[in-house]
Amino acid sequence: MKPYPKSIDLQDGAEVVLRPMQEDDLDRSHRFFLHLPEEDRLHLRMDVTDREQVAIRMEPSDAMDNWRLVALHDDAIIGDGTLAQPRYGWRRHTAELRVIIARERQGLGLGTIMLSELFHEATRRGVEKLFGMVSAKQQVAIRTVSKLGFQDELVLRDHRRTLLGDLEDVVVMTVSIADAWRRMEDLMHAMDGQGRERY
Ligand SMILES: CC(C)(COP(=O)(O)OP(=O)(O)OC[C@H]1O[C@@H](n2cnc3c(N)ncnc32)[C@H](O)[C@@H]1OP(=O)(O)O)[C@@H](O)C(=O)NCCC(=O)NCCS
Repeated sequence: MKPYPKSIDLQDGAEVVLRPMQEDDLDRSHRFFLHLPEEDRLHLRMDVTDREQVAIRMEPSDAMDNWRLVALHDDAIIGDGTLAQPRYGWRRHTAELRVIIARERQGLGLGTIMLSELFHEATRRGVEKLFGMVSAKQQVAIRTVSKLGFQDELVLRDHRRTLLGDLEDVVVMTVSIADAWRRMEDLMHAMDGQGRERY
């Protein structure tokens, strides 16, 4: 198991550090969310322009074990990933993945790399099935996770109300951890020399 922090080079040459979120990341995290364009922020579950809500998001939850990973460039967060696993009950073998990348760093392989780190963590935790819940309008997200082996399992009609009050369909996409790894190994091989890790 490779310890954090990890250094990676993005496809544009930017040096990025990956590490779990720390208690002192509140201001960095708030700045990251404030910097997101509204159309990306609208898909988030809470109003992350509110520092208080960002603080609440970072607090431990009784029901959910939220493992949070951040990507930093020049000490600023440019990517945020979450692996959310129920602490008890009949969904204990599942976990939800969520990733969001700063607009100016999208399309450089960082989302795929962060998803691979979340897969590693899910594997370490014995998770057997992963899922993601995305708005039917988030076509880039659907395409990104589809490439990792996720498949549409369910569409929940009008299941999400955005911060602007609009209702959107939510697509639940799932993959078994074994299938995800098969796909991830092919992808990382194809990315060789691009989103390259430097340990
Ligand atoms: C979805 C998201 C996490 C992907 O991260 P990323 O770092 O941009 O993804 P990658 O660079 O690894 O690329 C993944 C695929 O998406 C494509 N992609 C990324 N950004 C894109 C864009 N703005 N327009 C079109 N395609 C895009 C990439 O080209 C790549 O596909 P390809 O390999 O066929 O070319 C990121 O775009 C994002 O944060 N979007 C807004 C929030 C969101 O939708 N989050 C998902 C909730 S789970």
